[in-house]
Amino acid sequence: MNLIAQIKEKARKNKRTIILAEGTEKRIVTAAGRITKEGLANLILVGEEEEVKAVAEKVGTDLAEIKVINPVKAQNFSLYAEELYQLRKHKGITLEDAEKLVAQNLYFGAMMIYQGEAEGMVAGAQNATSDVLRPALQIIKTAPGISSVSGAFLMISPYQEYGEEGVLLFADCAVNPQPTAEQLAEIAIVSAQTARSLIGLEPKVGMLSFSTKGSAQHEFIDKVVEATRLAKEKDPDLIIDGELQADTALVPEVGASKAPGSVVAGQANVLVFPDLQAGNISYKLVQRFGKAEAVGPILQGMAKPVNDLSRGCSVEDIVNMVAITACQNLS
Ligand code: ACO
Repeated sequence: MNLIAQIKEKARKNKRTIILAEGTEKRIVTAAGRITKEGLANLILVGEEEEVKAVAEKVGTDLAEIKVINPVKAQNFSLYAEELYQLRKHKGITLEDAEKLVAQNLYFGAMMIYQGEAEGMVAGAQNATSDVLRPALQIIKTAPGISSVSGAFLMISPYQEYGEEGVLLFADCAVNPQPTAEQLAEIAIVSAQTARSLIGLEPKVGMLSFSTKGSAQHEFIDKVVEATRLAKEKDPDLIIDGELQADTALVPEVGASKAPGSVVAGQANVLVFPDLQAGNISYKLVQRFGKAEAVGPILQGMAKPVNDLSRGCSVEDIVNMVAITACQNLS
């Protein structure tokens, strides 16, 4: 069974309630029909009911088993506005501001999750990453013990010699523009957990840089070395090494020559990038030039799972992301 099929199987067993916050978007409504037919999740589409119905009719989605909620007409609208006001009044928002925010699909969805009425949310077919992230970061916040949410990509490469038969996890490719050493250490630990829990990998974490084991000197490298030390200190069982160049991390012969004795060099399956520019550029290059399938960003470290789609996403991307969301943070 391939990886996505395995994730779907797990989602089917757990059958969680997932919100699709862009409920009037054609690809979203089409995907909702498929997700329901495949039994991957119970769905809530957020949007104006008549508009959702019209799109559903057009794309042939049966709404019988899908809940549709229009924020401004929702029974809980005032309750959510009051709750959001209480949560954010220390940031200077008024009750009127809170009402305006809860009227927006993404804030309404985040409040539903906060109130325990749904277990996860997927959006981003119409909204930019930062707009999907902000309500989730402000309302749902991070899981206990985690300070930074980060974004991982599951990379499925046709080149079986890399990672675990071509499967790797890349992070952070989506959230933290310039992580500190502490944040980078946390990203390494959380990424290893994602690799283990979501895709069943025994993580070997490569902390990437433009230097291998002191081959160059720069403050950027110092940050990666310090992050590796901190990650080891926080999680002594973690198989991690750095700083490593990408070829040292991935290619056994290069690893053996540049980092002899390393438990990761030549066999890394989780790659942690030193900053967002490196991570975001790398996953896109590997996807385009390396013909790898890039699944994500999978947001990790959130108290309840919220995931972002690319605005160019396909219906299949949405179906897969709902399946992944349904499998995250399972105890
Ligand atoms: N983890 C946890 N909480 C966070 C994080 C994080 N990584 N970043 C911000 N927050 C919290 C803040 O503490 C703050 O909480 P508070 O309001 O309760 O105090 C709240 O989120 C808002 O933070 P700000 O810094 O004020 O919000 P801002 O909107 O400026 O930035 C954001 C947050 C949206 C994550 C920003 O860092 C960002 O835009 N990152 C890049 C996203 C992006 O464009 N990625 C590339 C494209 S994705 C792709 O190609 C797949």
